[in-house]
Amino acid sequence: MGKSVLIINGPNLNMLGKREPGIYGHTTLKDIEGRCQEHAKKTGLTVSFMQSNHEGDMVDAIQQAAQSNDGIIINAAAYTHTSVALMDALKAVGLPCIEVHLSNVFSREAFRHKSYISFAATGVICGFGAKGYELALDAIADIFEQ
Ligand code: DQA
Repeated sequence: MGKSVLIINGPNLNMLGKREPGIYGHTTLKDIEGRCQEHAKKTGLTVSFMQSNHEGDMVDAIQQAAQSNDGIIINAAAYTHTSVALMDALKAVGLPCIEVHLSNVFSREAFRHKSYISFAATGVICGFGAKGYELALDAIADIFEQ
């Protein structure tokens, strides 16, 4: 049976396309979702999407993923650098998890170099813009095959 992946996006990513395009590009979150749906067909995965500006809603989504998904791809946006709650939720469910960032967070301000998500993630993809989500789908498909 095909595996199912939940793709979670955090605060302000609903504004992609308009938000600081010099850093995040012109691609909207809807475009990214469409690209992921297309890419998932090629890799035989089923993907669902959620975006929230609220940390607790993201914790709820991670907990619910344990019931209905086999893996998680997450761009926790600014919560990456602050959220023990998201890290704990990811550790609690124990699903394979790929952390994604559109920008190369390591070439930016020092406060972006620390990620709580990385403590729980299987791997990290950053700096490849919207393409990073497709790379994450390939990575999680490989993990499922192992
Ligand atoms: C981001 C990087 C974060 O530092 C920032 O707060 C975001 C987006 C990225 O995708 O590059 O909101 O996660």
